[in-house]
Amino acid sequence: MDLFNHIQIGYLVIQSQKLDEWQRFFHDGIGLHEAERTGERLAYRFDRHERRIMVEKGKAEDISALGIHVQSDEAMKEVLQRLSAKAIPVTATSGKSAVKRGVHSYYSFKGPKGLTLELYRSPILSEKPLNMKVSGIVTGDSGMGHLAITSRTPEIMLGFWHEIFDARISDYIDEKIAGVELDITFLRFNERHHSIAVASTKGVRLDPIRTQAQHVNLVADTMDDLVGAFRRLKQLGFEMAHEIGQHPNDKELSFYVITPSGFEWELGFDALKVNENDWAVERFKGISLWGHKPQKSGLVNFLKVNAINFINGIKSLAGKEYSPF
Ligand SMILES: [Fe+2]
Repeated sequence: MDLFNHIQIGYLVIQSQKLDEWQRFFHDGIGLHEAERTGERLAYRFDRHERRIMVEKGKAEDISALGIHVQSDEAMKEVLQRLSAKAIPVTATSGKSAVKRGVHSYYSFKGPKGLTLELYRSPILSEKPLNMKVSGIVTGDSGMGHLAITSRTPEIMLGFWHEIFDARISDYIDEKIAGVELDITFLRFNERHHSIAVASTKGVRLDPIRTQAQHVNLVADTMDDLVGAFRRLKQLGFEMAHEIGQHPNDKELSFYVITPSGFEWELGFDALKVNENDWAVERFKGISLWGHKPQKSGLVNFLKVNAINFINGIKSLAGKEYSPF
């Protein structure tokens, strides 16, 4: 079966020691509904799903798992068959550990770059009213936001998303980010223009990003939501990696803010949905039509960011990038 339109990004798990800062980030800044707050764990929701984002206490300062919502039993069977055919070991989890993810049960396996992917069929739903500073976050048939992942072996990573989940290529962008020339491929699983973007350096393949994702994205319902969150986050002292601007491919307006764990978070508005009947794959020059200027400009900051990314890039050459097949 073709899994297109049966796959959505469903939830995200972050591991960090900085729970207080993450609470300020998601609740006070972005303005999401706080579903749980203890010394060990934070959880947020923004639709009927009881949980969409979890922050667990731990040392990684990174994304530790990505939940993938599989839309039918048939589709789940198909994904599991494909994993089994590739001899990828899968672990089934249910009970309390699954409830902490806001799902009844899930199957996990080690995905590209070692990121844990968790496949689930049915989320735990809540009818409790939302208490948020934003009016809404786009989910529904589009699933939740997207992830941009850097890779030293983009052909292998793109192959993984295509062969296991029937991801389609939406378009490409050539860009220079933080001093590195990148080739970015945008993948969709459904109407959302992209759920995964894979970025690779041109020439010598380095991975300049320490974390599993260079950024994670959510799309807000209104322009007021975007501007409100932008102003709140700035007021709370979070640094904007890129202030408000617009992408040429999905036409989304967005800003990128630096999270407590160091990777970037993009909040967007008004991203186009792909019409499968007349979509043409294009290659764009530059990630932004306009805007997306760094808050901290100047040579010192430029060199600081580039030096960190350069060191990460050199370090990345030491080992082989993990791929499940
Ligand atoms: Fe993005």
